Amino acid sequence: MTRAAYDTVAESYADLVRDELDGRHLEHGLLATFADRVSSGSVLEVGCGTGRITEHLHRLGLEIAGMDLSPNMIEVARREHPHLRFGVGSMEVLDAGDSSLAGIVAWYSIIHTPPQQLSAIFAELHRVLVPEGLLLLAFQAGNERVRLEQAYGHSVSYDAYRLDPDVVVAILVEADFEVDVRVHRAPMGYESTSQAFLLARKRTS
Ligand SMILES: C[S@@+](CC[C@H](N)C(=O)[O-])C[C@H]1O[C@@H](n2cnc3c(N)ncnc32)[C@H](O)[C@@H]1O
Repeated sequence: MTRAAYDTVAESYADLVRDELDGRHLEHGLLATFADRVSSGSVLEVGCGTGRITEHLHRLGLEIAGMDLSPNMIEVARREHPHLRFGVGSMEVLDAGDSSLAGIVAWYSIIHTPPQQLSAIFAELHRVLVPEGLLLLAFQAGNERVRLEQAYGHSVSYDAYRLDPDVVVAILVEADFEVDVRVHRAPMGYESTSQAFLLARKRTS
């Protein structure tokens, strides 16, 4: 359902979100903080879509690749950012070894996962991160499932979940992450919900 929806909207999505970070100083600050704190090593954007955040973090100096569920989103990402590496896959089962990544970004990509499945996702992200490796999450805050029938100018049918930041923090802690930064801001512009950002770190066992 999610993959088919993003395959449908891929071209329009790229055009509509390309400049979305412009003037968003908080988001710029969070991404810069993440980039500063990932000192060295490989970084993966899971659910990278058409690659705008992968590109942004690459320009901040990170050695970064992107992966996404939707082959059409990846096709656009490869076309728009030919100097970066992108792959098709699911964050449920990552094609990466244990303790192999210095950082992971999930920028509005856990929003299609039912909350009860987040612990399995976080366990997989935890597996591939090095000890002290960083995880940056962005998502719409709330506590509801929304059925989307229209998106980016297309008829689609898929679900998005507004997630309670307290619940996401609790699931992260349960999955052996320490949450270092927690930001919750009011809606801006066209947004209908507040937005949450979490920077977490894999605990050293
Ligand atoms: C709202 S878009 C965000 C894309 C990109 N991070 C950005 O900010 O432009 C959500 C993306 O997450 C991807 N996605 C959703 N669930 C996924 C999963 N389980 N594994 C990998 N990608 C997933 C979708 O295919 C879609 O491209």
